[in-house]
Amino acid sequence: MMKVDVLLGLQWGDEGKGKVVDVLTPQYDIIARFQGGANAGHTIEIDGDKHILHLIPSGIFHKDTINIIANGVIIDPFILNKEIEGLQKKQYDPAKNLFISKKAHLILPSHRLLDAVYEKAKGRSKIGSTLKGIGPTYTDKAARNGLRIGDIGLSSFKERYHGLKKMHQKIMQMYDVNPADYLLDGLSFDDYENAWFESLKSVEKLRFIDSEYYINRSLAENKSVLAEGAQGTMLDVDFGTYPFVTSSNTICSGVCSGLGVAPGNIGKVYGIVKAYCTRVGSGPFPSELDGEEGDRLRDKGKEYGSTTGRPRRCGWLDMVALRYAIMLNGVTDLVMTKADVLSGFEKVKVCTEYKINGENTDQFPFEIIYEEIEPVHTEHRGWESDIDHIRKLEDAPEELVDYINYLESLTGVPFKMISVGPERKEILFIDGGL
Ligand code: GDP
Ligand code: IMO
Ligand code: MG
Repeated sequence: MMKVDVLLGLQWGDEGKGKVVDVLTPQYDIIARFQGGANAGHTIEIDGDKHILHLIPSGIFHKDTINIIANGVIIDPFILNKEIEGLQKKQYDPAKNLFISKKAHLILPSHRLLDAVYEKAKGRSKIGSTLKGIGPTYTDKAARNGLRIGDIGLSSFKERYHGLKKMHQKIMQMYDVNPADYLLDGLSFDDYENAWFESLKSVEKLRFIDSEYYINRSLAENKSVLAEGAQGTMLDVDFGTYPFVTSSNTICSGVCSGLGVAPGNIGKVYGIVKAYCTRVGSGPFPSELDGEEGDRLRDKGKEYGSTTGRPRRCGWLDMVALRYAIMLNGVTDLVMTKADVLSGFEKVKVCTEYKINGENTDQFPFEIIYEEIEPVHTEHRGWESDIDHIRKLEDAPEELVDYINYLESLTGVPFKMISVGPERKEILFIDGGL
């Protein structure tokens, strides 16, 4: 019996998960998304061609791999359909290798509208949501009001759709908003709703499966499965910087509930870490750099959101958060991305502790959203040279090797791969890699 390997982000999302999944896909028979929805934006660059995936797993560019959108994911058929059409235009045929769990919940147009209404009502304390309807849809799932992909074919589907929509309209009346003031992907609500129903017709032609059985049977047949995380550990609904989080469990335990795999059948856990730190949206970010250094990281790292285009907030690596993330996920192997972005920085800093009310701590505090946190840094020599062409650690600048050794000494977990550019081939493997 094989075990499911897991790949997930250890920071606030956008660690470069998509790229690393694509690099690892030749080693796997199946890639499965287990949580989140189109709030994710996973970028893969192959020979100068850039693809951004929101719902489809990042194994889709290898034609022999099966890709599964499993039960823990929530799906907007309009976005899924657009994504499939976009890939078809580029001569890929995603529908062929894509399976969807019947139990995956549907994001309704009124969920998206509610998302926007809630955010507006929060005013200055808004989350900075991607407004894809994530919060309201997971809310309805937990409240047992939701609709699932497998329900589409039921004769009662339309009635249930309208029942749920009516409930959402009632909530909106409490907020005293005019739905006509809101656009969804540039469309009025009615236009979006029509397009949503049109998309359902295409989505209905995809293969719906009982993915928990499919995955467990595949493991029993010695097939290899990689679970692809979305968002990052610090956006987890339980352990992230609540309430500035997403609405799903982004951590490793989400794989068990999001795929239907028992805890004992989890294998390796690959933690993806950017060489520095970014966050998009609101919420605490202790190691954030406000001034010139932050701008330099953003420019060099092209740190603009893959889903929303918003500028990402940038800062130094945060070891308090990273060690917390490693603990929560049981990370067995680390992968560093965007190491090339730090080339040319004379000094590289690492936040190792937080100072709160005059006291230092290396524990991620509950009070993170209430207290002023001052980061405590160590300072390291940077590396001058470009490293995007480097494929072996032996060829890497000494300062980068020192940086990696230092981080390993703080985490006790080895780095197995270092990504040195956005392209599929821009990666170096340590000790044979993963
Ligand atoms: P994800 O959400 O974790 O998949 O990450 P995103 O795709 O949202 O953001 C990562 C960005 O960094 C994308 O634009 C990638 O193309 C890019 N990227 C990934 N790895 C590297 C790397 O090693 N170096 C550089 N310079 N860019 C990278
Ligand atoms: P990937 O998979 C970075 C952030 C949003 C917002 C908060 C809640 O590409 O790493 P939501 O839309 O879930 O209501 O937003 O979470 N967020 C992400 N930030 N990467 C992501 O996904 C994210 N998905 C959500 O910016 O602050
Ligand atoms: Mg992203």
